[in-house]
Formats: sequence, structure tokens, C-alpha cells
Amino acid sequence: YPCEVIRNFSIIAHIDHGKSTLADRLLELTGTITKQEKGLNQQVLDKLKVERERGITVKAQTASMFHEKSGTRYLLNLIDTPGHVDFSWEVARSLAACQGALLLVDASQGVQAQSISVFHVAKEKGLTIIPVLNKIDLPAAQPEVVAQQMESTFGINPADVIKISAKTGKGVEQVLHAIIERIPPPAGNPLDPLKAFLFDSSYDRYRGVISLMSIQSGVLRKGDKIASCFTRKKYEVTELGIMYPEEVPTDCLRPGQVGFVACSMKESSEAHIGDTFYRVGQPVDPMPGFKPAKAMVYAGVYPVDSNDFLKLEESIKRLSLTDRSVEVTRETSSALGQGCRLGFLGTLHMDVFRQRLEDEYNADVIITAPTVPYKVLHRDGKTSIVSNPTDFPDPADFASGGRAKAVQEPIVKASIIVPEKYFSAMMELVFEHRGTDLDWQSLEVAGEASGDGRVLMTATLPLAEIVTDFFDKLKSRSSGFASFDYEDAGYQTSDMRKMTFLLNGKPVDALALIVHADKAEAIGRSWVEKLFKVIPRQLFEIPIQAAIGGKIIARRTLSAMRADVTAGLYGGHYERKLKHLNNQKESKRKMKRVGKVDLPQEAFYDLLSK
Ligand code: GTP
Repeated sequence: YPCEVIRNFSIIAHIDHGKSTLADRLLELTGTITKQEKGLNQQVLDKLKVERERGITVKAQTASMFHEKSGTRYLLNLIDTPGHVDFSWEVARSLAACQGALLLVDASQGVQAQSISVFHVAKEKGLTIIPVLNKIDLPAAQPEVVAQQMESTFGINPADVIKISAKTGKGVEQVLHAIIERIPPPAGNPLDPLKAFLFDSSYDRYRGVISLMSIQSGVLRKGDKIASCFTRKKYEVTELGIMYPEEVPTDCLRPGQVGFVACSMKESSEAHIGDTFYRVGQPVDPMPGFKPAKAMVYAGVYPVDSNDFLKLEESIKRLSLTDRSVEVTRETSSALGQGCRLGFLGTLHMDVFRQRLEDEYNADVIITAPTVPYKVLHRDGKTSIVSNPTDFPDPADFASGGRAKAVQEPIVKASIIVPEKYFSAMMELVFEHRGTDLDWQSLEVAGEASGDGRVLMTATLPLAEIVTDFFDKLKSRSSGFASFDYEDAGYQTSDMRKMTFLLNGKPVDALALIVHADKAEAIGRSWVEKLFKVIPRQLFEIPIQAAIGGKIIARRTLSAMRADVTAGLYGGHYERKLKHLNNQKESKRKMKRVGKVDLPQEAFYDLLSK
């Protein structure tokens, strides 16, 4: 397959606009799968229960298909991208292997926050963009209005917009033609030195790491010895081929092609997304813009039963083989025992990982409150990154003569698209979450009924504020209409403090938080209240306190026990109470002692999973 007949493209869209459905239709139309076969969508969903439950794609899927046009047989490589803000990093790197992208917009929903962010990423990479309006079969579809929105937001000529229904298949043939006609073929000379770009990887128990690579120049064959530009490690190619849509071995991969490569790579940590590979002895310049994945949310993960630690650690290790973007280290807490500290791309990523641990490994886990990575500037001029409240300096460290000078927190540039009538509710939400630099513009299109026009709002927000319940609030306060996206905007100096919680005067390490000074009191009170509800009464009175340094900012006192074993359980379901009674003996064994207070692991579970 010479370059001229190859097209590498991606489908980019806001979540739920129909990416997987369109991918399935394209595979069907080109005969890659039959109607009876399950499409990629279904296959992916079958693989991950969590995706089925949440209706989102977590892992990108890539597939090749063939299509004949005017007597020429074209090889079309679809590089799929996941559809959630946490994974925007994956979107960017998948696009590096493409020359074009289908910008898919739901004709009943219009342009949404992620439509805009993915459009900009694709534009930056210089890709040809094919605008496609989906779901025109829906009665609520407004293809003309949305085409105009695309013109005013993206400068797209309405005449270029293809209107389709991925569900019924209407117009999808036109999409195939546009891919061939509008997207330029990849460049790349088979005679130049080998240059292969790694854009995705997965792990196979028997064959080790399977990489997805895009060949920029040269030809890659079985038996070739290749090396990584990043690590300089060498490998031998044992198997390669295209995804059609599952792995189909071929003799070689030529310039412009994308395919899978198995190459004696044992550890998934060796497969750096964005890395460039060359033939041993023929080094090349790496592809620009290589950035290793960056964890932005950290949390401690502990087994509900502390005897299960080794089993949990093993499950986490196995799961992280299939999800390389998770960082794993061990940590110990005096309250929760042995655990792991994990770093995630975002909170959704964290939820997905937790759910997979529970579904696939049957693990019951306690996850501590999420923390973002803070930069601590020291007086000696050094900077350290702190992603665990335990390591955060105490107020005394900031006093004159202390070692710490200031703290910087990660911030993001957020965009929200929302119908006008929710504008003030969104503004309030942004300010509640320490937002600054609020700006907005109307997305109203001439001719659209006035009043239901939408507004694009942008603001700078601390990352710590959006890793909590921001997204849930955004959805509920806009009746589900607001869409949200964000990008990294660096760090800003902020007045952050370490908050500790004391039981009977002793700090509980697993509960420490890093909070902004302005919010300390409210947060302290609400956590003390939560603790009050989950801690079982004991034979003596227990003061529950929130403190910053030596200063107590909230307090409640739990009175001494009555002779009722379920007294400590708040509003628990009947089954839970029953289980508690049955397990009473067992849970005694699991009790942790903090300042003479017996704490069942279950209390932490209740506290941290609410
Ligand atoms: P993510 O993978 O989470 O990014 O979602 P997606 O963009 O892949 O969306 P998906 O293909 O899963 O479609 C979302 C929903 O829209 C599904 O319920 C589809 O059945 C539905 N859908 C997709 N295309 C059409 C269409 O043309 N018409 C109608 N009526 N529904 C559609």
C-alpha cells in the first residue's frame, strides 16, 4: 500500500455525540464487520463493564478498513479517541498519527464544550477537518442552525458540512468519500530510515506489551531490531500487522500505515506514548511534542479489610498494566494500615479505576480524599511537589525562620457552554469554586429563536476545586444542559493549609486535607459533622476536632456509648445493620485504634465514599 491510497483519520466529538456509532457504521459499510457482528462500540463495551454502565469510551480503539472508489482500493485507518476531559491527553496523542479528523456534532445538541477543545487540538496539529452533523433523524435535530453555529464558532463553511444519521446509516457513504477526497495522504518515504511513532499500547499476558504504531518513514518488518528514542532500549519485532478490526498479522508496515507491533517489550512502563522508534544503527530525530502522561489527582487506596493488602496490591498492579497512565507507589497510614498511593489523570479516571478494581478483581477499597500536586517553594530556593497531605508543610514551617516560603497550586482554563438562562447559576458556581478571570461570549446565531441562545463562559479555576463535586453541581444546576472542558494552565500562588482531624486529641493521618484558607472553616465543620455520624460511640466521650496547625477550627463531642451495637451507624440500610450485627465479632478484629478510640475500617469506608 503506497502512501497515496492511505488515509489516517480520527473521529473527534463531544461525549455522546455518536462517535462509536459512526465508527461501527463505517466498519459495516466497508465490509470490515457485518451487521450481525458486534461493532467496535459493542466490543469495547463488552470489554469494560464500567464503560457500559457509564456509556463512555475509556480505552481508544483503532481499526483499518478498505474502501474502493473510482477503481482504486483505499486503506482507511480509523484512530479512535476517548471522549472525556480526563483523557484529552490521549486525544492529542492519537491525533498525532492522523492527517484528518471528522468533527462530529450532534444536530440536536449543537456545539458543546468538548467540540471546541478537540477542534482546537486538531487545528493545532494542522489536520484537515471534515465537519459532520449527526443524529439528523431525531425530531429535535436542527441541522441548519447547528451548521451556522459551526460557521460562527469554527469558521466552517456550511456547504462543507455533511449531515448524517449514524444510527440509520443515512449520509454515511458521503463521509467515506469525503475522507478519501478531502484528507491528504500521509507523507513518508519507504527508502528513508525507519521512524515509527508509538501512540497507544496494551498488555497481553503472553506476548507482553502490544504497541500501536504509526509509520512515518521507512518500512518495519518482523525480526527488525528497533530502539526507543526516549529510553534507547532495544527490542526485536516478533509480530506486526493491522487492526482489521482485530489484529491481522502482515509482513510489514509501510509509511503512512498504522498497526500493532509486538516486540519483546515486557513492562508496560517501557511503552511511552508519543515515543519514536528507529532501526538500531540508524538513529532519527524523535517526533516533536513528546510529553509523558502527567497524573493530576492523587489518592490513597486501602483495602476495607487490612488483611487483604497483598491481594489488593497485586490487583492494582495487574490493572495498571492495562492502564499505563496510573502511577502506583506504596504508602502506610497509621489509621488504615498498608495501602497504595495512586496518581490519576482526573477524577473520572479515578472512578473508572476504582470501579474496575471492584468489578474485575472483586476488591473492596477505601479511597482517601483526592489531592492535586502542589508546588512548595522553599526558602533555600528549591521546589518540591507535594501530592499527599502528610507531606504538606505545617503552618509553623511557613512562619519566619521556617523552611517553606509559599505554595502554588495547579490551575486550569475552564470552558462551560450553557443555555443563557443558566448563566447566573454557572457564574455563581464558578465563584464558589474560587474562579477568576470570568469571561463570556454569546453563541447565539442569527435566526435562532431568542432566549434559548447559548453562552460560552471561560474562567480560571484551581484544579483542586474541580476534582471534587464540581462536575455534579454543574450538571444539576443546569438541568444537565451545561457542558464542560478544561485545559492545563500552569500554577498560581495560593494560601493553602493543611487540615488535620483529631479524635480524642490524636490526629488521624488518612483524613488530612489540603484546603484553601478561605474555605477552611466550612470544610472543617462539614467533615467534623460527617465524622460525628460515622464513628461508633465508645465507653467514653470523644472530642472530634478539625485543626490547622495548633488552631482548632471545628469541634463536636461524641457522647459515651449506650448498650446498642448499631448506635454508631447512621441512617444505615437494614441489611447493613444486619450485616454489622452478624459481623460484630469479625469487625472487632478489624478495629483500628486511634488515640484509644476504636475505629472500624467500615467507618472510613462510609466517610470517604459519601
Ligand atoms: P463516547 O464513546 O462516550 O464518547 O460516546 P460516543 O460519542 O461514542 O457516542 P455513542 O456512539 O455511544 O452514541 C451515544 C448515543 O447516541 C447512543 O445512545 C447512540 O445510540 C445514539 N446515537 C448515535 N448516533 C445516532 C443517530 O444518528 N441518531 C440517533 N437517534 N441516535 C444516535
